[in-house]
Amino acid sequence: MTVPDRTAVAIVGGGPAGLLLSHLLVRQGIDSVVLESRSRERVESRQRAGILEHGTVDVLHEIGADARMNAQGMPHDGFAFHAHGEEIRVDMAALTGRGVMIWAQTEVVRDLIALRLEQGDPLLFDAEVLAVEKVDGPLGHDGEAVVRYAYEGVEHELRADVVVGCDGFHGVARRAIPAEAVRTFERVYPFSWLGILADAPPSSEELVYARHDRGFALLSMRSPSITRAYLQVPNDTDPSSWSHEAIWDELTARTGLADGSFTLGRGPITDVSVTPMRSFVAEPMRSGRLFLAGDAAHIVPPTGAKGLNLAVADVRVLAGALASWRSTGSQELLDAYSDTALRRVWRAEHFSWTMTTMLHRPPDADPFDDRLARSHLQLVASSEAYRTAIAENYRGLDLDGLRPREH
Ligand code: FAD
Ligand code: DHB
Repeated sequence: MTVPDRTAVAIVGGGPAGLLLSHLLVRQGIDSVVLESRSRERVESRQRAGILEHGTVDVLHEIGADARMNAQGMPHDGFAFHAHGEEIRVDMAALTGRGVMIWAQTEVVRDLIALRLEQGDPLLFDAEVLAVEKVDGPLGHDGEAVVRYAYEGVEHELRADVVVGCDGFHGVARRAIPAEAVRTFERVYPFSWLGILADAPPSSEELVYARHDRGFALLSMRSPSITRAYLQVPNDTDPSSWSHEAIWDELTARTGLADGSFTLGRGPITDVSVTPMRSFVAEPMRSGRLFLAGDAAHIVPPTGAKGLNLAVADVRVLAGALASWRSTGSQELLDAYSDTALRRVWRAEHFSWTMTTMLHRPPDADPFDDRLARSHLQLVASSEAYRTAIAENYRGLDLDGLRPREH
């Protein structure tokens, strides 16, 4: 691949946000270069999200990256809570008219990469961005931003009208914004998720979010023969400290129903990892010629499955704003990008925090916390209006973050 030195939009990071943005820009006739620090194999194999809102499904359709998802993805109309042994079903389709799609982030990323390479547009792996510079100042002919990156042992410069930081929470782009120009909000939770993949058919047709006195558990899936599941564990847990048998025993204890009607099937565990839980927002999501999107700007705890979907929604708004600027010269939508995105981000922050606090049991939980969580679940069980609000947030809100998406 020739090493590019000038483009309209320099995209830092080739995760879901960066790759999807590059495709949306192609459709608007806007050039971009995607720089990804890891290898293609690494990016395609990182086990992460599994739930796609229908807005995310729609955008994969729009860019023509939906063939495998349509054939192999699993549309779900609802999910269940197992609350201290009692089942509460949330029928998203009946309550809100739409459901979600189970289709792994690894598969989404694989298709986005294949499509980009097929189109022959620049996407460099093993290209680590070292710094983003010259982002101060107006957009347009008056100046360029500079992205410095290392590729094949040599340092290069990429000049661009606009840089978009899609490089995740630990990336470099956010650091290009002067400390006094950004405000951050953060909450770190006193527990983590131990996640497994197992060669076992899912034990339930729909996802199960369980709260038990022993802590949270989640049963999900990747295919009719692969189970994905998570357990709340203490922070800094060493994944190898859990035997596979102990993982299944704990999942069984936390997800069981009092009437004995639920049985968890087992199978060989093929992957175990531990993920810390954090809420984080950086405001604004822009500084001069630099825009932030996805995990580079915000993190949610995974309960509620919002992270990937938020990243997708950010770049949809941003691609539209960049297209409007390039075609009309008006920067109005670009100027509104951060406020527009942040309205939806904070809705997802609140929803993820709510789901997390309702379903987990902090190690220092006192009886007051416990009673609140139980009462919260009782409200879910007793109120269709409340289940509707949960379903609207879970299956996805409109791009402005305020209304349930039209069906
Ligand atoms: P990332 O996926 O983090 O991509 C950033 C990319 O930038 C990476 O490829 C990285 O290698 C690259 N990069 C970093 N630094 C540099 C650099 N200096 N130069 C070049 N490249 C760089 N979300 C959901 O919506 N639903 C779920 O069900 C869900 N479940 C989850 C379960 C787990 C266990 C985890 C960990 C996350 C989950 N998430 C979920 C969150 C979701 O995976 C993330 O929100 C999503 O990956 C964000 O995409 P992104 O493109 O913004 O960032
Ligand atoms: C999955 C992850 C989540 O965070 C969630 O809320 C639901 C499902 C998953 O990986 O399948």
